[in-house]
Formats: sequence, C-alpha cells, structure tokens
Amino acid sequence: MADFRVWFLASSLAAAALVGCVAQTGTGFGDDPDGGSNPNDPNDPNGTNVDGGSLANDSSAPPLDDSGKPVATGVPCAIETMLSTYCWSCHGVSPSAPSRLVTYGDLVAKSVSNGSNSEAAQSLVRMQSTTSPMPPSGPKPSASEIAAFKAWVTASSPQGAKCGGSSAIDSGITADAAPPPNPYNTPLQCSSKKTWTSGTGSTMRPGDACGRCHNIDIAGTVYPTAHEPTNCLGIAGGATVVVVDAKNKTVNVTVNSAGNFLYTGTTILTPPYTVKVVSGSKTRAMSAKAPNGDCNSCHTPNGTQNAPGRIMAP
Ligand code: HEC
Ligand code: HEC
Ligand code: HEC
Repeated sequence: MADFRVWFLASSLAAAALVGCVAQTGTGFGDDPDGGSNPNDPNDPNGTNVDGGSLANDSSAPPLDDSGKPVATGVPCAIETMLSTYCWSCHGVSPSAPSRLVTYGDLVAKSVSNGSNSEAAQSLVRMQSTTSPMPPSGPKPSASEIAAFKAWVTASSPQGAKCGGSSAIDSGITADAAPPPNPYNTPLQCSSKKTWTSGTGSTMRPGDACGRCHNIDIAGTVYPTAHEPTNCLGIAGGATVVVVDAKNKTVNVTVNSAGNFLYTGTTILTPPYTVKVVSGSKTRAMSAKAPNGDCNSCHTPNGTQNAPGRIMAP
C-alpha cells in the first residue's frame, strides 16, 4: 500500500482494520531469523561441517594456557570476558554447541546458522532474541554488556589482544583496540537545533510515528544521535533507507531535508522487512527484521520494544 492518505481521511473501515494490525505487530519481534535451519543436520547446507565431523573453523584453534584457557583470542578484553562468562561453557574451545565463539576468526566467520551474518552478528541477534535467546539458560549478559557487544559488532568487530593471557600470539596485534564508544550513551538532544512547528507534508513531525495518522508502508526519521526529541529535525538528507520485504523485493527510500523518509512507490510490500540505512560506503543495519514499516513507533527517543533509540545515520 503506497497510499499515503491520512487515516482519518481514508475509509474508516480500512483504517480501523489496519490500526488493529499495527497494534499487534510488536509481539512478533525477536523471532529467530535463521528460518529454522538446523546446524546439526548434515543435509542442511548451512550446517554442514566441512572438515568431516568437527567444526569448520577448527584450523584456527587457539593455543591454550595450563588451565585450558586460550592464551590470546584476538578479541578485545571486554568482549572476550563476556563470551567467556556467558557463552564458552557451550561455545568454548571444544564446543557442545554448533559453533565455537572463541577467537577473532571464529567471530568474524560466517554463522553456521545464518549465512548472511557473521557469528558475531548472529550472536547479537540471538542474545537479543526473546524467542530463542542465547544463552538458552543460566546467567544472561546485562543490557550494558549486550550494548558493548553490539557496539563492537557495529564497529566492524575490531581486534584486540592479551586479555589475561600470558602473551599475544599474533605479532600484528600489540594492544587492545580502544573500546569502541557506546553510541547509545548520549543525552537527549536536538542535534539539528531545528524543530518542526507547523505545516504538513513529507518534512512534517520528524521523529513522530507517521503511522499514527497515515496509511504507510515505510516511514520514519534518521537522526545523527541515538536520543533525539520528537519534532526535532533529523539529518539533512544524504542517506537512503534500503528495505527488502518478505518476498525479496527491494526498495530504496530517500531521506529528506528533515531526516524523514517515506515510501510512496507502487510496489506492494510485505512485512517483515530487512532494513538498513546507507550513506556513501557506510551502512547501519537492523539485525532483526522490522515487523512493520512504522519505524518511529519503535525508534522513539529512548526506544520501545527493545529498539535502542532513534534510527541513527551510519
Ligand atoms: C548452555 C549452552 C549454551 C550457552 C551457554 C550458549 N549457547 Fe549458543 N547455542 C547453544 C546450542 C545448543 C545452540 C544450537 C541450537 C540453537 O541454535 O538454538 C546454540 C546456538 C547458538 C547460535 C546459532 C548458531 C551459530 O553459531 O550461528 C549462536 C549465534 C549462539 N548460540 C551464540 C551464543 C552466545 C553469543 C552465547 C553467550 C552470550 C551463547 N550462545 C551461549 C548452546 C549454548
Ligand atoms: C498527528 C497526525 C500526523 C502525523 C503523526 C504525521 N502526519 Fe503527515 N499529515 C497529517 C495531516 C493532517 C496532513 C494533511 C492532510 C493531507 O494532506 O492528507 C498530513 C500530510 C502529510 C503529507 C502530504 C500528504 C499528501 O497526500 O500530499 C505527507 C507526505 C506527510 N504528511 C508525511 C508525514 C510523515 C513522513 C510523517 C512522520 C514523520 C507524518 N506525516 C506524520 C497528519 C500527520
Ligand atoms: C517493532 C519495533 C521496530 C520497528 C517497527 C523497527 N525497528 Fe529498527 N530496531 C528495533 C530493535 C529492537 C533494534 C535493535 C536490535 C536490532 O538491530 O535488530 C533495531 C535496530 C535498528 C537499526 C540498527 C541500530 C544501530 O544503531 O545499530 C536500524 C538502522 C533500524 N533499526 C532501522 C529501522 C527502520 C529503517 C525501520 C522501519 C522500516 C525500523 N528499524 C523499524 C526495533 C524496531
């Protein structure tokens, strides 16, 4: 539906039906996106072990110290500590789970359950999943540990070294990469210092949930920082929101001078959507699928339904 009429001007019957639909979509969020592939099934191309019986990435098995812990993993200390605390009991050096999540190489390798993600990105998906969470039981990482892991993944997983180990194994790595700044740890601010006050049209009410009033497929606002008030103008264009729908149709939606984007094309789109924001060579992707296209309904100043806040420019 590319009809962009305001709800109350559209047929009340259709509007009521669709409002009901939007109101329910939140519960579907967090579904495991791996589509049920079974990493242990030898007939499943995503799960096949290439070296016959052991893990595909065994070739880079880390050297161990006397206590059986890896000497150096190539992963920044905070990330290694989180994995060691919550994941290595199953995804350790000799994993019982289908993947080893120990070395830098393990984490940047393709996920055994979802070939379009790295193990690190898929780990983030599963740590945030409500339907198939990792770890499946026992102590879970805190929100801030997950945020730090996410920031590391978002920063394209920089290497680190010597986390408690006796020596760095990779001479190319001499010190931990500086921990990436947490992009969500910012105050509520209107970066553009410009606020929408009146007028209707594509630059109206930036940050507001357009679907409250409009019959939309895809609409929202891109901001420079994670927490920005409603009606504050977002980035002044220069980015595109790329949406792939459930039937693999791709549309590119341009971000306008208020930071708003809205899809007005004629292609019929089917949720859920795989979404990313692209600016030049930089990309910021949503790891899970968006259950609906009213992006600002979750990407509020502080985020609802697990969203971390605003949609940020990459
Ligand atoms: C108690 C054991 C256990 C713990 C602890 C555990 N996992 Fe898992 N994990 C499993 C099992 C079993 C599977 C395979 C079944 C499934 O996918 O649910 C799995 C699957 C996964 C997968 C999907 C397969 C892949 O590699 O693509 C990821 C990603 C993952 N775990 C990440 C993690 C992360 C990250 C942690 C720690 C925060 C963690 N797991 C902790 C047992 C565990
Ligand atoms: C509180 C209700 C409300 C919200 C929220 C809202 N709008 Fe509107 N919008 C209106 C009204 C009222 C009009 C004027 C009536 C019309 O032109 O259909 C309008 C008009 C428009 C138009 C012109 C429509 C046309 O048919 O020419 C566009 C484009 C538009 N809005 C985009 C947006 C975007 C993008 C958002 C979210 C960032 C948004 N609106 C949020 C109420 C709203
Ligand atoms: C039902 C709530 C919901 C809706 C609707 C939603 N998102 Fe998200 N979004 C989330 C959650 C939760 C996260 C954090 C986890 C993740 O990345 O999957 C997120 C993360 C993101 C990120 C990555 C954030 C970062 O800083 O790395 C982007 C980009 C994004 N969303 C864009 C969109 C766009 C564009 C739309 C509309 C087409 C949209 N989202 C609709 C909940 C939602």
